Amino acid sequence: MHVTHLSLADFRSYARVEVPLDPGVSVFVGANGQGKTNLVEAVGYLATLGSHRVASDAPLVRMGAERAVIRAAVTQGERQQLVELELNPGRANRARINRSSQVRPRDVLGIVRTVLFAPEDLALVKGDPGERRRFLDELITARSPRMAGVRSDYERVLKQRNTLLKSAAMARRHGGRSMDMSTLDVWDQHLAQVGAELLAQRLDLIAVLQPMTDKAYEQLAPGGGPVLLEYRSSVGGGVGAGQSREELYGLLLAALVEARKQEIERGVTLVGPHRDDLVLKLGELPAKGYASHGESWSYALSLRLASYDLLRGEGNEPVLVLDDVFAELDARRRERLAELVAPGEQVLVTAAVDDDVPGVLSGARYVVSGGEVARV
Ligand SMILES: Nc1ncnc2c1ncn2[C@@H]1O[C@H](COP(=O)(O)OP(=O)(O)O)[C@@H](O)[C@H]1O
Ligand SMILES: [Mg+2]
Repeated sequence: MHVTHLSLADFRSYARVEVPLDPGVSVFVGANGQGKTNLVEAVGYLATLGSHRVASDAPLVRMGAERAVIRAAVTQGERQQLVELELNPGRANRARINRSSQVRPRDVLGIVRTVLFAPEDLALVKGDPGERRRFLDELITARSPRMAGVRSDYERVLKQRNTLLKSAAMARRHGGRSMDMSTLDVWDQHLAQVGAELLAQRLDLIAVLQPMTDKAYEQLAPGGGPVLLEYRSSVGGGVGAGQSREELYGLLLAALVEARKQEIERGVTLVGPHRDDLVLKLGELPAKGYASHGESWSYALSLRLASYDLLRGEGNEPVLVLDDVFAELDARRRERLAELVAPGEQVLVTAAVDDDVPGVLSGARYVVSGGEVARV
């Protein structure tokens, strides 16, 4: 798929902007702080309902404005669709497809698909487990938009279970009446049920992503691998690809029973996909804490390239976004990455300096300056 028109109102630094887009490569050039990333962040938001830079919507609304609107015309094969999201921080966001009446924002998922490379990606390798969980879960949702519902169900169940544990912890500390444990039993079952679905999807994803990531790493840094993606579950050993939902449900439930005493002491859920990690190994060692800066970059890029291969292989080619990444890379990695992405159906590149963008990425050029985007 590709975006043929992007339109923003009160999004980040833009009061209003209209950007017609072609398939193929588009390069957005402009000095720092002119609004290049803001543009591609908006495209990414349509694909994930989140920003790759901030966890909440508030910073996405132009200072002084009440709401932001992102609108995109999208072409997939013969099909054309118009998607629109209205961001209302503190209140529910609204969505429309083809100007029809309201749909839920999550119904928009799957129309725009992106794989976004950004300087923030280094945190995939060097950052906290939460970064890697988000990577997995966003890719799961891109493959199968209904998983957005499973993810929000899980968040909801987790929140309610934590509330219950917290009050149990309080009651214990203050010598109050002890809680009725059968309520907690019910929440254990909910958590294990939804958690097993999420866990199964993650394990399945990692199994298909593994060879693709290894291949991408070899292309970017020949001879530097192998890379190995290893899922580390808070349930402990015994969790692996190919297990049925029922088996995973049983494992999760057993682990919750095991952890209950400690959970009540601490007032928080200690077992479940929200406590898991994806250990990224380079050779024998985990990349985090061991890999060099260059190796970490190659690893992060490999994960993104593998995501791209995966989504493309499943039918609907995503838009590739390369936000300010060439400045971060040495000449060799720059050229390799550019060659790998150049044939994409649509590639959006941002750069402060034209010269940082490898020649193989020739295409449309836009200058971003003073809140305006002009094709040159
Ligand atoms: N909510 C907002 N309201 C107004 N301006 C914003 C908002 N969020 C970010 N900006 C401005 O946008 C600019 C950064 O834009 P960005 O796209 O990140 O720049 P770059 O071209 O370097 O990628 C900064 O000047 C920042 O102050
Ligand atoms: Mg930027």
